[in-house]
Amino acid sequence: MITSEEIRKEFLNFFEKRGHKIVESSSLIPEDDPSVLITTAGMQQFKKYFTREKDPIKDFGTQRTASIQKCFRTTDIEEVGDERHLTFFEMLGNFSFGPVGSDNPQDFSTSGYFKKSAIYWAYEFLKSLNLNIDYVSVFKGEDNIPFDEESFNIWKELNFSEEKIKKFGKEDNFWGPTGEEGPCGPTTEIYIDRIEVWNLVFNEYYKTKDGKLTKLKYPGVDTGMGFERLMKVLQKTETVFETDLFEPLRTRILEIVPNIEIRDLRIILDHIRGATFLIADGIYPSNLERGYVLRRILRRLMLKLNKYNLVKDIENFVKSVVEKFEQIYPNLRNYDKINKVIKKEFDGFHNILKKGLTMFEKYIKGNEEDREIGEKLFILFTSFGLPLDISKELLREKIGKEFTETMQETFDLLFENHRKISKSL
Ligand code: SER
Repeated sequence: MITSEEIRKEFLNFFEKRGHKIVESSSLIPEDDPSVLITTAGMQQFKKYFTREKDPIKDFGTQRTASIQKCFRTTDIEEVGDERHLTFFEMLGNFSFGPVGSDNPQDFSTSGYFKKSAIYWAYEFLKSLNLNIDYVSVFKGEDNIPFDEESFNIWKELNFSEEKIKKFGKEDNFWGPTGEEGPCGPTTEIYIDRIEVWNLVFNEYYKTKDGKLTKLKYPGVDTGMGFERLMKVLQKTETVFETDLFEPLRTRILEIVPNIEIRDLRIILDHIRGATFLIADGIYPSNLERGYVLRRILRRLMLKLNKYNLVKDIENFVKSVVEKFEQIYPNLRNYDKINKVIKKEFDGFHNILKKGLTMFEKYIKGNEEDREIGEKLFILFTSFGLPLDISKELLREKIGKEFTETMQETFDLLFENHRKISKSL
């Protein structure tokens, strides 16, 4: 079975041969970009090359780069636990910064390229791995941005029938920008086993803070392929969590708790990796911005570990992540620091969690109306410090209820009143 280590090499070699400079992943803390909290995409470290504020030739000796980028998406935190959502993930990407010299897939030089080379190379790379594309999608045109006929025709040239080239609108086939402003454009997406595996973005526009689109001086290419998803289709696992990217951590957890609930296992796998990488890149738990993101996942992680009496094993679990990734990300070797940060946060949260768990069980019966549950969760939060994230998990775990909009509304209303009263005191 092909391993993720082999795929890393194959991907980078493939694009290096085609004139790309291999660039290391940037930190999860974006440098030089106040418009985003955490690195969410491979293109982020290259934003200024798309706009030409920076010169790719000067910095890379070529207009083509490729990378495997660490990413973290906070929008997905609450979804983690299902089959495919992750907070931390890696993205394989190739990039071209204009002007376009030639758009010929046989051209292995260092000049800028566009849709034809990007699509042909994605197709060839997947073929070299013996993967069959189910279907692709292109931008159908919307809001005065035209139909991407060029991509449509390129896929036809590659012998895709029209039924296999789906046309979608902005919601699906227009990407970006990251943060409040930046390059963006129509996309073509590649699906394997009904999973979107590779997103090819043709950056033709720049979106400004006030939402206006202007044409970029030179068009660029920004592709991103989810590494975990790619390994899932290559290793033919049921979900991303059984790929080797979650080993040896997964096996170690299963050795201790063979009957762990699948949703809990996924949350633990995701959050340990996420926390380890965030801390290695210099983030500390706090109540603000990225620190708060880390705090949220550490607290949820503790809740889940506590359920299976695994809190004491955290050091070993972190070590398992480090073992897998330290060759690629040497800053993980500092795992004493990582463990210290986690332990400190766990120690600080221990009493809140203990008391909160007892009060939750005493207080919430499960037969209340949603509004009443919202009120009770608010009281648990203000009187015992039990975070809403944790309460949501407990609702599901202890009484089999999902957190609803009504509960959220009630909670928010009480919170707002509480804030006003505290302010006026
Ligand atoms: N920026 C695009 C994405 O994040 C492609 O790399 O999906």
